[in-house]
Amino acid sequence: MNQHSPFSQDRKQLIGESLTPWWRGGIIYQIYPRSFQDSNGDGIGDLAGISQRLDYVASLGVDAVWISPFFKSPMNDFGYDVSDYRAIDPLFGDMADFEALLERAHALGLKVMIDLVLSHTSDQHPWFAESRAKRDNPRADWYVWADAKPDGTPPNNWLSIFGGSAWQWDSRRQQYYLHNFLASQPDLNFHCPAVQDALLDLARFWLEKGVDGFRLDTINFYFHDAKLRDNPALALDQRNASIAPMVNPYNHQDHLYSKSQPENLAFLERLRALTDQYDARACLGEVGDAKRGLEIMGDYTQGDKRMHMCYAFEFLESRPLTADYICQVFQRLEAAAGDAWPCWAFSNHDVPRFVSRWGLSPEAARCLPALMMCLRGTACLYQGEELGLPEADVAFERLQDPYGVEFWPEFKGRDGCRTPMVWQSDTPNGGFSETADQTWLPVDQGHLGLSVASQEADPTALLHSYRRCIALRRANPALVNGAQFDMQTQGPILVFQRQAEDQHKGGGTSKGQRLFCAFNLSDNRASVALPPGQWQVIAGSYAPQSPEAIPTSQLEAPLAEHLGAWQFMIWQDHSL
Ligand code: BGC
Repeated sequence: MNQHSPFSQDRKQLIGESLTPWWRGGIIYQIYPRSFQDSNGDGIGDLAGISQRLDYVASLGVDAVWISPFFKSPMNDFGYDVSDYRAIDPLFGDMADFEALLERAHALGLKVMIDLVLSHTSDQHPWFAESRAKRDNPRADWYVWADAKPDGTPPNNWLSIFGGSAWQWDSRRQQYYLHNFLASQPDLNFHCPAVQDALLDLARFWLEKGVDGFRLDTINFYFHDAKLRDNPALALDQRNASIAPMVNPYNHQDHLYSKSQPENLAFLERLRALTDQYDARACLGEVGDAKRGLEIMGDYTQGDKRMHMCYAFEFLESRPLTADYICQVFQRLEAAAGDAWPCWAFSNHDVPRFVSRWGLSPEAARCLPALMMCLRGTACLYQGEELGLPEADVAFERLQDPYGVEFWPEFKGRDGCRTPMVWQSDTPNGGFSETADQTWLPVDQGHLGLSVASQEADPTALLHSYRRCIALRRANPALVNGAQFDMQTQGPILVFQRQAEDQHKGGGTSKGQRLFCAFNLSDNRASVALPPGQWQVIAGSYAPQSPEAIPTSQLEAPLAEHLGAWQFMIWQDHSL
C-alpha cells in the first residue's frame, strides 16, 4: 500500500513536464484535514496525520493535494472562518508540521495547494475587531458596512447562503455588515485597495513558503455591488440546488448584485501576476453560481492573465449525471470561452457523497472515475471517493455543521461527507484515530468494510479502479491536455473524442494521439457507432474481474459496439 506512485516517471516521459504544466489535466486529491488522520489522539485530524498518509495519496498516482483550511480559526465554519491567515490552528499542529508536510509531499512528487478564504474572515480576526470599533479608523472600510433603512431594516434584500439576511446589525458602529455565510464570517470589502494589498501580501507569504498553488474559496463573492442594489427574484424554472438546497430561500434570488461583479477581473489579474512571479504555481478558483457558473468560469479562466482553472459545481448536484446533461455543460462552457479551463469534481466536503447522491450501483460507481479522467479539464477527487464511501448518516445530536443545524431535517448539512476517513476495518475508529474515545464526527461503522486496508487486499475493489483510471489519463497525452470534440449523445451513451498533437519543445517530446471515448451512463444496454478511423480498444469495463484493464492489442476494431449498463470503452486511432 505504501509505495510511491508508479506512474510519475511514465508521465514525465509521455507528456514531458516542460510541455504541459502540472495543473493542466492534472489530478488533485482533496484532503479535509479534520477527518483524514488524527496523529495525537484528540479525535480531530491534523497536519502530522496528513504527512503520515501521504505515501498512500502518492500511490494513487495523483499530482497534487488540496488541503482544506488549517489556519487559525474559531472553527464556526470549520476553518473557512480564518482569524489569522499566517498561523496554523493549534488543533492541526504548528508551522513546523506544515513545513514537514510540504517537504514530504514534494519528496513524493506531490504538489501542495492550500485553501485561501479571502472573501471573508472570521469575526475574531483583528482586522474586523478594528473595523467594527469605529467608523473612522484605518480599517473602518475593510468590511462592507451600511446604514439601516429608515425603518431599521437591512440596507437591501441580499440573503446569506447559511440562512436569513446577509446583513448583521453591529451595535458598536450602529450599522449593518455584510456576510454571505455565517454572521461570524464578515465579508471583506474588496473595493478598498488596502484590503486587496493585504490579501496579496498573505498570498505572497505562502508562495514564499513553497506552496504550489491555491484553491481560492468562493472567488466570485469577492466584490459586491457598490450601490447595494436589491437582487431580483429568480424565476421558478431557473432555481436549482447547485449552490444551496432547494429548502433554502437563497435559491429564490438571482444574485446579480451580491456577487460576480466586473471589478473582480482586475483583482484576479493582480493575484495571477503575483503567482506568476513564482515557478509552476496554480490558482484554482471556486465559482459558485446557480445560473451563470460556467459563463463566469469562462471569464475567469480565458487567456493566461486570470485564474489557471476554476472549480465547477455542475457535477456536484443531485441532478442525475446523464449523457445529455454533460453535453449541455460542455456546450455552455465552450460558448462562454473556448479556452476556459475547468476543474471537475463529483464530490467534496460540501455535498453528499456521490454514491448516495446519485444512488449508484457498484458498476456505475466504477464507471465514474473513468469518465472523470477522460473529460477535458483538471480532475479533483475527494478523500474517500476512491473507496466508494456512501454518505454517512449523522444523528442530529452529533451534528457539527451550522448549515445542517439551520435547515434540519429537510437538509442535513455537510457532516455526512465529512466523517473520518477509514484506513482499517478492524478498529472502531477505522485507523483514523488510535486512541480517541470519541472522534469529532463519528466514524461511520458501515464504512469500515470499505477501508483502505480491505480494498488494498482485494484486486477487484474500487480503489484499484481509481488507480487504473488515473494511470490511464497519465499514460495518454490526449486525456491530459488534448482537444475535446464531437461530444454527443448516442441514446444514453456519451461519446467524444480527445486529440493531442505531436509536440517538441525544450528537448521534450510528446506524441500525438486521437481517442474515442464512450460511456453508457444508464442502466440499460445500448450500442455505440464509431466514427471513421482505425480504432483499437485501449481500456474499457468489459470484464468485471479486471475492469479498465483490457490489453491494447487484443480487441479488434468494431464499427459498432454494445455497452452494458454503466460500461465504458476507449479506443485509440492507430492510423495516426
Ligand atoms: C466552502 C465551504 C464554506 C464556504 C464559506 C465554500 O464554498 O467550500 O465549505 O463553508 O465556502 O467559506
